[in-house]
Amino acid sequence: MILGAQWGDEGKGKIVDLLSEHFPVSVRYQGGSNAGHTVIVKDRKFVLHLLPTGILHADVVGVIAQGMVLDLEVLDSEIESLREKGVEVKDRLLISDRTHLVLPYHKLLDRLFEKKGSIGTTLRGIGPAYMFKHGRRGIRVSDLEDGELFKEKLRDNLSFAKEICEKVYRESFELNADSIYEKSMRIYEKIRHAITDVSRYLMDRAEGILFEGAQGTLLDIDMGTYPFVTSSNSSALGLSNGTGLSPKFFKNSYFLGVAKAYTTRVGEGPFPTELEGEEGDNLRELGGEFGSTTGRPRRCGWLDLVALKYSVEVNGFDGLIMTKLDVLDGFEEVKVCVAYDIDGEKTTSFPASLDRLSRAKPVYEVLKGWKDSTKSLKSKERLPKGALDFIRFVEDYTSREVVMLSTGPKRDEYAWLTEIPLKISSSFT
Ligand code: GDP
Ligand code: IMO
Ligand code: MG
Repeated sequence: MILGAQWGDEGKGKIVDLLSEHFPVSVRYQGGSNAGHTVIVKDRKFVLHLLPTGILHADVVGVIAQGMVLDLEVLDSEIESLREKGVEVKDRLLISDRTHLVLPYHKLLDRLFEKKGSIGTTLRGIGPAYMFKHGRRGIRVSDLEDGELFKEKLRDNLSFAKEICEKVYRESFELNADSIYEKSMRIYEKIRHAITDVSRYLMDRAEGILFEGAQGTLLDIDMGTYPFVTSSNSSALGLSNGTGLSPKFFKNSYFLGVAKAYTTRVGEGPFPTELEGEEGDNLRELGGEFGSTTGRPRRCGWLDLVALKYSVEVNGFDGLIMTKLDVLDGFEEVKVCVAYDIDGEKTTSFPASLDRLSRAKPVYEVLKGWKDSTKSLKSKERLPKGALDFIRFVEDYTSREVVMLSTGPKRDEYAWLTEIPLKISSSFT
């Protein structure tokens, strides 16, 4: 289980790709094309939005589980763009028949909703698609099987979306059922062989499965900085409902949290350690912090250990993987937030109240920079002392080991700090 421990973009894609060598099955189970997971293999860059990252390995089966929301057009173009790069996924992809679809009116509504009370979404239709799902008017992959039924549901959805658009937002509504129907069916014909009961498939395997979280714990709809979150459970809480597997299935799984050595966030919402002005710009430039999906500049700040420890507890992480430590290589000193000062009171708990979090001032511990390169390091023996001290500080605070260090964006830029069990099986039957 590989999960984002912060506000997304921690480098999950790179880690999933790296570890997929050990796992014949790679599963995405929440979110949709709001994700952007970057992998760099021998100077070739891939950014995956919907497909599980493990699918880049030729012998891995990629699974889109029921908790995702699936935009057929994005899926189709992602499959095509991988094909152009020599990666054929046609016979290695499974799609849950229970997965809900993202359709053009969800994207339109996403744009409209952003006009009032902006969250800074990716505009990929994610919130509205989950809203339709939970409002019990969503359309699922299994509905595509019966063209007439699909068309009927489409018409119902469209008239609902049209009312919101015209009556609430006073905008014209041009979408029509026939063109959405035709486009969807054309793509459906190309992927229908992949549609199956994914829960059954996973239950029957019970080992060698890598689950890839999208977004991050602090964007989780329940545990994150609500309402500035995404619309799915992007923490470990989403595993069971996202896959259709009992929580017992995961009892022997190894849960890894991916965290950057600093913090970033895209979109609106409180961010206690955010660095404004030149300092933030500097970190953004050094880290290349621009969104993989939208290209938006990411907000940047120091590592927030209060938030990271909260994330460790929410997810029950067994270990952490730290990415982008190399970005901090040149700093004289490096700060880490060890508590929040809220209205003059010091606390180390991450508040549920957004209002309180917005008033949280970071209390920093200042660590000495290492002023030496960690880039591309492949073994812990070569780590500068200051960098190791930084890692140990994080471990002490979170009570979790940093088991791996990512030392650059490329597949082979990493160092294990501790061995972890890589052939992990579930005893669930
Ligand atoms: P994800 O959404 O969690 O998969 O992360 P993104 O792909 O959106 O953003 C992470 C960015 O950091 C990508 O551009 C990666 O290529 C890059 N990256 C990942 N690990 C490292 C690392 O250890 N060092 C550096 N410098 N870049 C990294
Ligand atoms: P990966 O998987 C970072 C953010 C958006 C916005 C909020 C809601 O690449 O880490 P949404 O479109 O989901 O309704 O937007 O969530 N967001 C992400 N931020 N990484 C992501 O994915 C994100 N997916 C959504 O910026 O603040
Ligand atoms: Mg990303």
